[in-house]
Amino acid sequence: MKLPVFRLVLTAGLIALSFSAAAAGFRNQNGEKETQDTTSFTSPFYEDNERCFECHGQERYEYKNDNLGTQVKALMCENRRIGRDDFYSSNHKYFSCTDCHSSDYVTFPHPGQLRMEQMYTCIDCHGGDEKFAKFSFEEIETEYQKSTHFSLEKDGFTCWKCHNPHSYKISIRNTENLKETIVFDNTICLSCHSDFRRFQLLSDLEEINILEKHDWLPNQASHFGSVRCIECHTMQNDTILVAHLIRPKEESVKQCNECHSKNSLLMATLYKFQSREQRRDGFVNGIILNESYVIGANRNRYLNILSLVVFGIVILIIGIHIFFRTK
Ligand code: HEC
Ligand code: HEC
Ligand code: HEC
Ligand code: HEC
Ligand code: HEC
Ligand code: HEC
Ligand code: HEC
Repeated sequence: MKLPVFRLVLTAGLIALSFSAAAAGFRNQNGEKETQDTTSFTSPFYEDNERCFECHGQERYEYKNDNLGTQVKALMCENRRIGRDDFYSSNHKYFSCTDCHSSDYVTFPHPGQLRMEQMYTCIDCHGGDEKFAKFSFEEIETEYQKSTHFSLEKDGFTCWKCHNPHSYKISIRNTENLKETIVFDNTICLSCHSDFRRFQLLSDLEEINILEKHDWLPNQASHFGSVRCIECHTMQNDTILVAHLIRPKEESVKQCNECHSKNSLLMATLYKFQSREQRRDGFVNGIILNESYVIGANRNRYLNILSLVVFGIVILIIGIHIFFRTK
């Protein structure tokens, strides 16, 4: 008779517990919050940049044809358009366009030789800088140089191809929404791997159908929304947060149990940062429990103990209850 009530209390207790565990994890991630709210950001170079955005910021632009004395309206092609919002929420939002590009771009038509302009690399600015040491730029570069894409540098592949100069912002490091970060990171890869127009600039290969190539993976959509491409395609690396060594396709992760097991590789990749944070609190696989992501990993010593305690308390309450009723 008392059993349903008992089960109800126990369930309520466990739910409350998992909520507080989730809340603790959340606060934790917030504690590491590094970027400010960007919606209110005003660049010191706003006016300067408008000189470029007046053409590159939207679909239609105008200029004066000095020879004919006419005003011309034209369309800005898609790949030369830059969103103001994207730019002003990116990691390089403090920059003026002409910090990276030649100031000769203020003239239009742009001088022809600017097409040969050599761009800075990440290391030119970030290399050997204490302020950015925590990102390990040098180690990332070393990894990238062993990566399968590096051989495409002769065709123009650079770090910028994955780190869009006008919109990239770090995500996994300060994520508050893991799913969103997964989408963000996968979109980087898919910008070429599901857009042949961009892919063919770097390779003579036929179009590769990513969905077909991953046919062996069940619930593909769900997997691509829950893990990043780099989980399966990179060499694990403990010293950097985001592994950058993309391995040849033959060496990609294909075994289900590499993720679907207690010592899932995801602990060293996708959940690495969170789990490191959590470990500081002694709550080792909290993140996995919070997100209940990995099948077979939902066992936690603390929760086990706590559920026993709750169990004990409930028995005690029922005991007292019965004691007074039978009196
Ligand atoms: C009057 C319109 C206009 C303005 C203002 C303008 N641009 Fe452009 N820009 C264009 C057009 C059109 C193209 C593509 C054709 C070309 O390369 O000339 C282009 C191309 C470019 C390219 C690509 C060149 C390449 O190699 O393909 C860069 C980089 C660029 N602009 C930067 C800038 C910067 C930086 C500014 C501001 C200082 C600026 N532009 C201002 C119209 C403009
Ligand atoms: C942090 C450096 C940096 C800043 C700031 C920057 N750019 Fe660029 N921009 C680049 C690089 C690098 C490329 C070449 C990208 C590539 O190789 O994929 C580029 C390419 C371009 C192109 C050619 C189209 C393309 O995407 O390849 C245009 C147009 C352009 N930039 C305009 C601008 C304008 C306008 C601004 C200011 C709002 C700006 N850039 C600010 C680094 C920068
Ligand atoms: C022209 C110099 C320059 C180049 C080239 C450059 N950066 Fe930066 N980057 C900076 C500066 C300066 C900052 C700091 C801006 C600030 O104070 O917030 C920055 C900020 C960042 C941040 C944010 C750091 C933080 O603490 O939040 C990241 C991530 C980053 N850059 C990555 C890159 C990557 C990846 C590349 C190459 C694809 C690159 N940068 C190329 C100068 C550069
Ligand atoms: C094949 C695509 C690709 C290339 C090429 C690439 N990156 Fe990345 N990079 C990523 C992805 C994906 C992330 C994860 C983005 C996120 O969630 O912050 C990342 C993250 C980073 C971060 C942030 C790591 C952190 O600790 O927060 C830095 C810094 C970085 N890359 C630097 C570089 C440099 C330098 C190069 C060139 C030597 C480079 N990347 C080339 C895909 C790439
Ligand atoms: C669960 C692991 C896993 C995930 C997640 C994954 N891949 Fe793969 N991928 C593989 C394996 C394994 C292969 C090799 C398949 C085979 O046997 O041919 C592969 C093959 C590839 C190839 C080579 C295709 C060819 O035959 O040339 C590309 C490109 C690729 N993946 C890109 C991606 C991109 C982009 C994503 C993210 C949207 C992604 N992968 C996500 C495991 C994965
Ligand atoms: C700028 C375009 C671009 C981006 C962005 C990009 N790739 Fe690629 N990737 C290519 C091209 C082009 C090839 C084909 C190389 C060749 O010709 O063999 C390739 C090849 C591959 C291969 C197959 C390697 C092999 O052994 O054949 C894998 C796996 C792969 N990419 C994964 C990724 C992942 C994961 C990301 C995101 C982190 C990514 N790529 C981002 C252009 C890109
Ligand atoms: C790179 C890590 C990784 C690999 C490899 C992997 N999975 Fe998963 N899988 C996940 C994650 C993370 C989820 C959680 C998805 C969610 O809850 O949204 C998942 C979910 C699932 C689900 C439940 C899907 C759903 O929509 O509820 C099934 C079934 C599954 N995987 C089967 C497999 C099989 C079979 C393989 C091997 C062929 C495999 N997985 C390989 C990480 C992986």
